Amino acid sequence: MARPQLRYVCTACGSVSSKWSGQCPECGAWNSLQQEAAPSATPFARKHGLKSGGQPIALTALDKPVVLPLRKATGLAEFDRALGGGFVPGSAILIGGDPGIGKSTLLLQAAGRMARSGLRVLYVSGEEATDQVRLRAHRLGLADAPVALAAATSVRDILTTLGAGPSHDLVIIDSIQTMYSDQLEGAPGTVSQVRASALELIAAAKNSGTVLVLIGHVTKDGQIAGPRVLEHMVDAVLYFEGERSHAYRLLRAVKNRFGATDEIGVFAMAADGLVEVPNPSSLFLTERDRPVSGAIIFPALEGTRPVLVEMQALAVRVPSGATPRRAVVGWDSGRLAMVLAVLEARAGLSLSSHEVYLNVAGGLQVREPAADLAVAAALVSAVSDTPVPAGTVALGELALSGEVRRVAHADLRLKEAAKLGFARALAPPGTKGVGALEVCPCASVAALVSWLMPR
Ligand code: TYD
Ligand code: MG
Repeated sequence: MARPQLRYVCTACGSVSSKWSGQCPECGAWNSLQQEAAPSATPFARKHGLKSGGQPIALTALDKPVVLPLRKATGLAEFDRALGGGFVPGSAILIGGDPGIGKSTLLLQAAGRMARSGLRVLYVSGEEATDQVRLRAHRLGLADAPVALAAATSVRDILTTLGAGPSHDLVIIDSIQTMYSDQLEGAPGTVSQVRASALELIAAAKNSGTVLVLIGHVTKDGQIAGPRVLEHMVDAVLYFEGERSHAYRLLRAVKNRFGATDEIGVFAMAADGLVEVPNPSSLFLTERDRPVSGAIIFPALEGTRPVLVEMQALAVRVPSGATPRRAVVGWDSGRLAMVLAVLEARAGLSLSSHEVYLNVAGGLQVREPAADLAVAAALVSAVSDTPVPAGTVALGELALSGEVRRVAHADLRLKEAAKLGFARALAPPGTKGVGALEVCPCASVAALVSWLMPR
């Protein structure tokens, strides 16, 4: 028998090279090439010498009536929201996330609830023994849920099992990186194995109208381990994210063939599993009796949901000559440098002799430029040691000219602030107040400084 030919597959982009190199020639990723045996023709194709001789495909029109399959609710409203209203039968969903973030917990909870509602659910674990999964189910109060459980890694065995009985409504594979397809050589977790296993499972699920959930691990740089092609093969990709040191978890859709991608589900990890958080702002707001300097509330937007977070700044004077530090947690450090420069150039407020620390409370990552004004306000308040009056939120994007620009969905953000009892919003002129919340128009950073430090 001929020796299998070797090839090198990039774990980041899936491109194939014949030689190893330190950097992928296609996507430029470093140390991403993995050695694999080149796939040979399938026994079927070899036996039948398949090269040509395809069948003509029946063509059809766009205007045929469409029957949308009824979605299946997961029993967790926040999960349903991220999916766009529950699982679509016959669809394949990839759920990615860091190890230990709670993927298995989330899917076991959904499996339990769906099974209790009378659906046929199979949970296949390739990572844990059935006892471990059972133990978790006990902890989650789901011991009595009629979920079929299996510990398996062979795709062939799983497909045979699925083919044997009546069809399942939901099959969960935990995780796709542990699955092994006998169609190919190579260890589980290699690019070709992940791809081949996923392909077989998805094809089988589509045929039987089963919802297939693939759990996937995320590598250090935040990609689902294995090729990006996995993301192209499924109908929806959701990421489960959060800080391990904080309780909150966000389920974020990054691709959804059956719904919007800007929806998020919010959960908190508790001792007995994931708890839904219908009002996310309650997670990130700090309760205190009197205002402190350097803190202000920013109405952030996660997908389409407003989330109020506290931006905290600290400015510490350093001896002249020393290079002052700038440290940021939860925001963009380049953006902080810009806000500092705008404050200095347009409002005459220099922090070049101060160390500056900026923190988004609660561990949330804020990525929006709409937080500029809140950051500027926190900095001015910190350096002048003047607390921002209680009940104030700030939103607005800063231009290099020092002007404050309008932000998207200001009404949505302010509605949430009003609902939580905030009375005042520092915002660009033209922003409308909501109910009892009034807007203090703030046209520039200079106006902000004179509002916070009247002298
Ligand atoms: P897990 O679902 O195993 O994460 P993943 O499948 O993404 O690797 O959850 C792991 C963490 O969640 C674990 O460190 C403990 C914590 N946890 C709780 O705090 N409460 C619970 O009820 C459960 C089941 C887990
Ligand atoms: Mg797990």
